[in-house]
Amino acid sequence: MIKKCLFPAAGYGTRFLPATKATPKEMLPILTKPLIQYGVEEAMEAGIDQMAIVTGRGKRAIEDHFDISYELETQLKGNSKEELLKEIREVITKCTFSYTRQIEMKGLGHAILTGQTLIGNEPFAVILADDLCYNENSSVLAQMVEVYKKYQCCVVAIEEVAKEDTNKYGVIDGKLIDDSDNIYRVSTMVEKPEPKDAPSNLAIIGRYILTPDIFDIISQTKPGRGGEIQITDALMELAKVGKVIAYKFEGKRFDCGSVDGFVEATNFFYKKVC
Ligand code: G1P
Repeated sequence: MIKKCLFPAAGYGTRFLPATKATPKEMLPILTKPLIQYGVEEAMEAGIDQMAIVTGRGKRAIEDHFDISYELETQLKGNSKEELLKEIREVITKCTFSYTRQIEMKGLGHAILTGQTLIGNEPFAVILADDLCYNENSSVLAQMVEVYKKYQCCVVAIEEVAKEDTNKYGVIDGKLIDDSDNIYRVSTMVEKPEPKDAPSNLAIIGRYILTPDIFDIISQTKPGRGGEIQITDALMELAKVGKVIAYKFEGKRFDCGSVDGFVEATNFFYKKVC
């Protein structure tokens, strides 16, 4: 039912300079796999096979990554190292990739609106690749697709954060529904509120399922926090009419946009495979 996943990937990754001077931050590896490939594999686990990527200048490595490298294939053919290409080859075979460029950096809402040309008029998922999610059984996005099937409206993934960290996230408030302890009908959402103004400590992480009416709403949304067009502000319009669900997911999430989170993710995956 959800066939497409949008990856906003135009940001500069300034927190990782100088590594991100000529390399997209989405290509930074956790062990041997770039962050964006983890995201694509998570989307695949949710039954999605059309990847739509919003890129920008200096991001060509992403397109090359999701393409065949004939030179490498020829070099490694019959070699013991051929095995190392197996995973990415499978991704390329099973999925399609389409790209568009965000010309100016005007915020996450604007990046998502830029992706409209790739999405069209259907519900879609959004993955922010620097939030790396892991769950043993069902990927975080796969869990969200199940929630979408039931409620047929926008879904955001949330987790509890320390109160002093609310100014790093979109923060929601809402009512638990259906006797669940993890599904909220959202009543309020605020982008990066100071702790004293935060409606709760339930923070949005980089996973969304959006209905296509969001595009018109974003195009009407005024710049908000940081002078940027915020997806949180656009979603608030749908929350007002009860059309946003927040889902407290099962699994772990690493903030790989920060050095601490990146190291934590590296250690976590290293322990799992070694
Ligand atoms: C974006 C969103 C924010 C969300 C966060 C999750 O912020 O604007 O609402 O909580 O992603 O990672 P960014 O981290 O891009 O500043």
